[in-house]
Amino acid sequence: MKIKQAEYLISAVKPHQYPPEMYPEIAFVGRSNVGKSSIINTLVNRKNMARTSGKPGKTQTINFYDVNNQLRFVDLPGYGFAKVSKEQKIGWKKMIESYLLNRTPLQGVVQLIDLRHKPTEEDQGMFSWLLENNFPVLLVATKSDKLSKNQIHKNLKIVCDVLSVPKDYPIVFSANTKTGKEEVWESLSGLVEI
Ligand code: GTP
Ligand code: MG
Repeated sequence: MKIKQAEYLISAVKPHQYPPEMYPEIAFVGRSNVGKSSIINTLVNRKNMARTSGKPGKTQTINFYDVNNQLRFVDLPGYGFAKVSKEQKIGWKKMIESYLLNRTPLQGVVQLIDLRHKPTEEDQGMFSWLLENNFPVLLVATKSDKLSKNQIHKNLKIVCDVLSVPKDYPIVFSANTKTGKEEVWESLSGLVEI
């Protein structure tokens, strides 16, 4: 995918703040700090378009990005961040669910999981929720640069067992080395017309 244009559009917390529906949207979900904002940057060849942070809980709003005046990437707050209050967690969950369940241009969801670890209960819960709600889901196993080939193989097996998916289903990815970037774009092309 040749990137001709990519820019931050707007942040929203409530549906009335979403931008007018113009292009197909792809949303990115996953645990806090898993690398949602980073994969967006990698896919559009930018270093810091979507703000990233070593500390979890960086993205706290729904952030919309325009890509090639053709589609939108939607960066969502992460789940599973221990250091926020219960009320805030419920608030984020509602914010994410109401976007995912009500947004007409939404064409697919990229769920990121950290390939270094067994998927958490929240990862499993999110994945089955997405399937139950019939979303086209792309499963991306990220931070693969932190693992050896052997470990990637082993961990991939664990991920696939836990989530009950075939072994070639997750895309092995790294925002640092850009491993898997073209594969993600190819799969996205299957979800939206690009
Ligand atoms: P929240 O906005 O807090 O939900 O986090 P996020 O999922 O958007 O994560 P973000 O992209 O901010 O990345 C979190 C940290 O992980 C940053 O320090 C990134 O540099 C790092 N990171 C992201 N992707 C990768 C990767 O593929 N490999 C490595 N080694 N580090 C990564
Ligand atoms: Mg983020």
